[in-house]
Amino acid sequence: MSGPRDPRLVARRRLLGAGLVPLGFAVPPVAAQSGPRTPTPSQTRGPFYPPDPPRDAGEDLVLERDGKRARGELLRLAGRVVDTSGRPLPGTRVELWQCNADGRYHHPRDDNPAPIDPLFLAYGRSTSGADGGWRFRTVRPVPYPGRTPHLHLLLTAPDGRSLTTQLYVRGEPGNARDGLLSRLAPDARERLMADFVRVADGGWQAAFEVVLPG
Ligand SMILES: [Fe+2]
Repeated sequence: MSGPRDPRLVARRRLLGAGLVPLGFAVPPVAAQSGPRTPTPSQTRGPFYPPDPPRDAGEDLVLERDGKRARGELLRLAGRVVDTSGRPLPGTRVELWQCNADGRYHHPRDDNPAPIDPLFLAYGRSTSGADGGWRFRTVRPVPYPGRTPHLHLLLTAPDGRSLTTQLYVRGEPGNARDGLLSRLAPDARERLMADFVRVADGGWQAAFEVVLPG
């Protein structure tokens, strides 16, 4: 089944075109620190990067309709992108993709029988500001067969530098059994972890700094 014609993806586009306006949201910025950094480890892009990423993708992956919203626990993710000297990298395109709250990617090649969530966009795009800050509102990642919870990220700076990586939940029990995570050295693994903190509305908040190589 070719990506752009996949009826599930087409249905999602219709939903977007039906006047569904994602909620506004606020995310506190990641605290800026100076000083040299070690580049964030890269990780495989995996098989589920969208075959045809929507041009109008934004920072909010969670839709609401008729009092319902995307399944799962809300996650507000605040990011920052810097170079190895700690300088912010404004104008960096940040792409996020992940499975939905049932562990299913909205991708034609994901054969997980879990359902598609028509209110979850599963892919978003942000652009870093002058302070290197970027943000998303999404749902907390869940495990799916063979993987511990994670978010996929692809960052592309204006000068063409890019990094594909994955973000993990610190303290998640499945981390120790995850094949992709276990092949990293402990210090590299640590640099892909984010603390997930409960917030007043019952959702989660996390912060993540990405250091682009060279
Ligand atoms: Fe994945």
